[in-house]
Amino acid sequence: MRTDSLHFGGFSRLPIVEVRSAPWFTNVFPVSPTNSRRWKQVLRSAVGLLGVLVFLLLQCGCHTSNPKPITVTYLRLGWSQPDDLPSGESLPQQFTRETGVQLSDLPLPEATLDQLLLSRKLLQEHKGDVFNIDVIWPGILGEDLIDLRHDLAGEITSIEPQVLARYELDGKLVAVPYTVQIGFLEYRSDLLREYGYRHPPTSWDELERMAVRIQTGERAKGKKDFWGYVWQGAATEALACNALEWQAAEGGGRIIESNRTISVNNPAAIRSWQRAKRWIGWISPPSVLDYQEIDSINIFDKGGAAFNRVWGAAPITHVGLFRQLHSRSSLMQSKTGYANIPGGSMGSAGTLGGSALAVSKYSFHRKEAIDLVRFLIRAQIRSNNEASTGVTQPEIGNLSSVSDENHKAEQSVRKTPHLVIRPSSETGAHYEQVTRAYIDAVHSVLTGDEEASEAAADLERKLVQIAGFKTGPPQKGTGTL
Ligand code: GLC
Repeated sequence: MRTDSLHFGGFSRLPIVEVRSAPWFTNVFPVSPTNSRRWKQVLRSAVGLLGVLVFLLLQCGCHTSNPKPITVTYLRLGWSQPDDLPSGESLPQQFTRETGVQLSDLPLPEATLDQLLLSRKLLQEHKGDVFNIDVIWPGILGEDLIDLRHDLAGEITSIEPQVLARYELDGKLVAVPYTVQIGFLEYRSDLLREYGYRHPPTSWDELERMAVRIQTGERAKGKKDFWGYVWQGAATEALACNALEWQAAEGGGRIIESNRTISVNNPAAIRSWQRAKRWIGWISPPSVLDYQEIDSINIFDKGGAAFNRVWGAAPITHVGLFRQLHSRSSLMQSKTGYANIPGGSMGSAGTLGGSALAVSKYSFHRKEAIDLVRFLIRAQIRSNNEASTGVTQPEIGNLSSVSDENHKAEQSVRKTPHLVIRPSSETGAHYEQVTRAYIDAVHSVLTGDEEASEAAADLERKLVQIAGFKTGPPQKGTGTL
């Protein structure tokens, strides 16, 4: 017996088994001596062919019984996603165990605008399957995402319609809400008590008074680096959220209003930026100009500040029910309280943040990608429902430990705060340029590079060019939700 191999276009080598004629064959099919050689050749070819066929069949059989696992690329927005919750097996792991579909995570930059650049690049290069998108991106990325309304019809009915609407683009549901975040104030309840305060600050004036007093007291005790208030002042989207809260609370509008007028150049917005500039070096460290969320959290968690601006979370099923804050383990947890962002003359405003899950139009594994989105959304709805039926305790700091007064404050935190919505639906694909211009203007005021009134006038000119809208006064209200 001799083995040889066949070449198919240089790609694969299949072994051929050469078989000499077996005696049982000649007995069953007797041949004459004149044609026996030809018969043998025919026989050899037939057996060879049979060998190839058997080999091919075996190969096919192997493929069906042990298919190469499908890998879906999932671009997650990182540190505050629900699938991060330390509940033993993570949701992505659970999905792989149940479906056999492997997930590959891509490393993501920290800042929202850098995450946007990466997401857009991947979509343009037709890479990636499932994308976790920020609430302000649907108008920017929506064209490259599939409509999920039909595939997730069952899940969508449980989700708050007004949040769902944030992810609609020309009637298409480009992503399904996964997290809802709202700007909140985090504070040291132990220090508030120590310095004689019965409730967290409700206005910026009050926050300033409390911050100065606590900061002075703590420094006198030897904590030289202690600061009253930390927040996010780096030139990133987080600053856009902080600044929008300052100006909306003073009646300074939403930069661009829902009637598509550019309102940012107004005295209330200008005053609110000037106020924030005064904080730097007084109740906030100069380095606040470089802080993103994680930086101010680190300072607060190390016991270095009395107040911090953070993101709180609400369930996707019921935004009115404020539920929990960052899923972070902090030494400060037992000394931390949460309240609405302090207000100005028009009340308090917390920016609406959050993210949703979307599937690329170019995904090679569309079915598996949709399955993953459905799996994660279902888990989120389940956990939201459990929380609202009291199975999981809400994690609302310990306001009540400050004093009885704070019991009231806890109740108010549970109510939906006054939400302010960034003008992403009004500006659609232009939102990125709009927000970059806004961030630069506010940052230049904070650094002292520009006067607030000058920065507002320049910004207005830029926004007219970018968005092509007219200018107008701020409208009442802070957006639609
Ligand atoms: C949070 C919010 C998001 C916002 C970002 C800014 O992740 O959910 O909407 O754009 O913070 O840093």
